[in-house]
Amino acid sequence: MMAISLIQKYNVPGPRYTSYPTVPYWDEKKFSLEEWKKNLVLSFNESNKTEGISLYIHLPFCESLCTFCGCHKRITKRHEVENPYIEAVLKEWQLYCNLFDSKPVIKEIHLGGGTPTFFSPKNLEQLINGIISKAEIAEMHEFSFEGHPNNTTRAHLQSLYNLGFRRVSFGVQDYSETVQNAIHRIQPFHQVAKVTFWAKEIGYTSISHDLVYGLPFQKVEDIIDTIEKTKSLQPNRISFYSYAHVPWIKGNGQRGFNDEDVPRDNEKRELYEVGKMLLLKNGYYEIGMDHFATADDSMYVAFKNKRLHRNFMGYTASKTQVMIGLGVSSISDSWYSFAQNEKNLEDYYDKINSEEIPVTKGHLLTKEDLIIRKHILNIMCHFETNWDNGLYFEEIYDVLENLEEMIVDGLVDITNTCLKVTEKGKPFVRNICMAFDLRLKRNIPNKQVFSLTI
Ligand SMILES: C[S@@+](CC[C@H](N)C(=O)[O-])C[C@H]1O[C@@H](n2cnc3c(N)ncnc32)[C@H](O)[C@@H]1O
Ligand code: SF4
Repeated sequence: MMAISLIQKYNVPGPRYTSYPTVPYWDEKKFSLEEWKKNLVLSFNESNKTEGISLYIHLPFCESLCTFCGCHKRITKRHEVENPYIEAVLKEWQLYCNLFDSKPVIKEIHLGGGTPTFFSPKNLEQLINGIISKAEIAEMHEFSFEGHPNNTTRAHLQSLYNLGFRRVSFGVQDYSETVQNAIHRIQPFHQVAKVTFWAKEIGYTSISHDLVYGLPFQKVEDIIDTIEKTKSLQPNRISFYSYAHVPWIKGNGQRGFNDEDVPRDNEKRELYEVGKMLLLKNGYYEIGMDHFATADDSMYVAFKNKRLHRNFMGYTASKTQVMIGLGVSSISDSWYSFAQNEKNLEDYYDKINSEEIPVTKGHLLTKEDLIIRKHILNIMCHFETNWDNGLYFEEIYDVLENLEEMIVDGLVDITNTCLKVTEKGKPFVRNICMAFDLRLKRNIPNKQVFSLTI
């Protein structure tokens, strides 16, 4: 077990580094929609023919609010919202296609949320058919979606399978009744077992379960029980997320429990360590910061071959230079720039109705950003980085000075031009990345904007 003092010392607010620069550090003044379009077309022309593009489609509706949730969602039981939303997303896709001289080659589609399975199978079919009617599909494509075990039907799984989806992740979180009551998400084991079984029977080749540690009232016994139950269903991947307690974010539903009900510091870390030990014992391999997979899963193979990538959705086994995010609040990445869509549904519709790409803010990466981004990706994905081979930057010696305490604490090893995260340092990978985060260092926030790193 980790020394308690190290956990207390390094448990500070810090980004999860799904991008660099992180969203609060985007330079919005230098960004414009015109620049975004130019950057995107440039990147599309460089990469569409050779590697294709990825699409992230945000489907924001959920029928009921889980009070721990940090995702961008709109709670409603009115299913009339489905059709106008699908029409808007297809219009947005058309606006993007109009920018390009050739047909997009789609390598990846990920349906995220919110709850994609809020939508009927028929409407999801209409959405995917509308998207692919304007594109070509790469031979080795990967289509995936997030399913809520409480409302995923066999028809959802079958329809999406018929459209080429082979990967599904189910939100599980924790099986304890006390925890489920606190987070307002009642989800019995048999429900998860049923959808997992259907997915296997239909032919999905990668089934993932999302678990979360650090939830209100969660105890070590709950983690042991949840992992026992999870193991019995044999998912190929397990995301074992650290609960991000960010109640200050507007519109967030994190209430229904008090701050003191949330495990923190060494109590929270113990939940992770016990979970990790059980997963390793049961044949899963740890990947990056919060993922586990079986040896035959593409994410483990990518990790072993140093091809693992990280983007706004977390870790992925494959990477494309261009990722277009469709739908309210989605973030797009052209590698040279980021852009985020309107976060408010009505504003999103307004822009789409005026035939405008619904981007509200973004960031154009500088040369320095591109170098730092690569270092942060290397550390988050491969636990090492190197600053020769074009990744040298002037402040590297200041960064090394900032890392001195972590070197003394045995969290990183530095040799010549190479940094390696030690086994002991892996839980602190976000802190190690923070030493490279020049934008954060130049402008330390005066209020809390990030969740705690542990
Ligand atoms: C969009 S949800 C998954 C799909 C569906 N809405 C559901 O809940 O089953 C994505 C996942 O994000 C994770 N998540 C949400 N809020 C979180 C938080 N505050 N901290 C850590 N993980 C969180 C959960 O594991 C959740 O399953
Ligand atoms: S966890 Fe999933 S179902 Fe619950 S509110 Fe968040 S997005 Fe919706």
